[in-house]
Amino acid sequence: MRSEEWKGYAPQLRSRKETIISNDGSVTLYSKEFNESYHSPKDGALNESLQKHVYPAFDLHKDKTSLTILDICYGLGYNTLATLYHVKKNNLPVKLHIISPEFDEALVRSLQGFDYPSEFDSLKPIIEAISENFYYEDQQFKIEVIIGDARKALQDMIKNNYTKYSTLSTQCFHIVYQDAFSPKVNPLLWTKEWFADIRSLCTEDAVLTTYSTAASTRMGLYENGFELHYYDAPNTRRSLIASPKRKGLTPNIEWIDMELKKQRNPNGRSLRDSDYQ
Ligand SMILES: C[S@@+](CC[C@H](N)C(=O)[O-])C[C@H]1O[C@@H](n2cnc3c(N)ncnc32)[C@H](O)[C@@H]1O
Repeated sequence: MRSEEWKGYAPQLRSRKETIISNDGSVTLYSKEFNESYHSPKDGALNESLQKHVYPAFDLHKDKTSLTILDICYGLGYNTLATLYHVKKNNLPVKLHIISPEFDEALVRSLQGFDYPSEFDSLKPIIEAISENFYYEDQQFKIEVIIGDARKALQDMIKNNYTKYSTLSTQCFHIVYQDAFSPKVNPLLWTKEWFADIRSLCTEDAVLTTYSTAASTRMGLYENGFELHYYDAPNTRRSLIASPKRKGLTPNIEWIDMELKKQRNPNGRSLRDSDYQ
């Protein structure tokens, strides 16, 4: 079965979305296809992007002058845009290459009219370029949105080592924002096999950030050689940071002893592609 043919997807509902004003005042959407919001209304869309994804990932890579980022999936683009906002605001001398799969082409096309927070005002030309061409490039930033199924996009990158606009090295991603809809409603983007593909594209010191702390998420990552940490950022629910190489612990990063977790919960298991065929 090809992932995009999974019967859990409902393309006929894909255009049906409702607007939500999240708790930090930033606007997000609710998907009728997945029956879930794009961001946690409680944590706030912009706050969640910055606190759970951008700040910890950049903190753990502050020595780098060039970063390649996999943003799963583009959605409203908050994670990509919050990344650019953070880098510009702090004048970070880092070159960024962001690759982001997304199968909702109409959504990406609509984003030039989206009601983004004022923090993204200076990003307007970038938002417009991505919306129109699914691509943006200047001297510091290169952004590619790959329209289509994320599973196929990763397989293509693994097999071919290139995208439409770039040649990639085998293990190229320093940062992965794993921000799909939840494992319950979008399981094929949380399976052991999915994380194996991600792992094979990651550098040894890669940092994967995700809001899901579910046992199945932790197992799927751990079974692919990731070390795991709980992460507690201000004003957000606890999230997860994974890295093939164990990172230095800071006060708000708590290493998870997965062998102990497995002893305590011997029935805990990762999601598998075969569960959904
Ligand atoms: C939770 S939203 C992402 C939110 C996004 N990170 C943001 O900051 O706005 C999940 C996105 O995944 C997309 N999606 C779900 N399954 C997909 C798949 N198999 N391939 C590509 N995109 C997918 C949905 O269309 C949706 O836009």
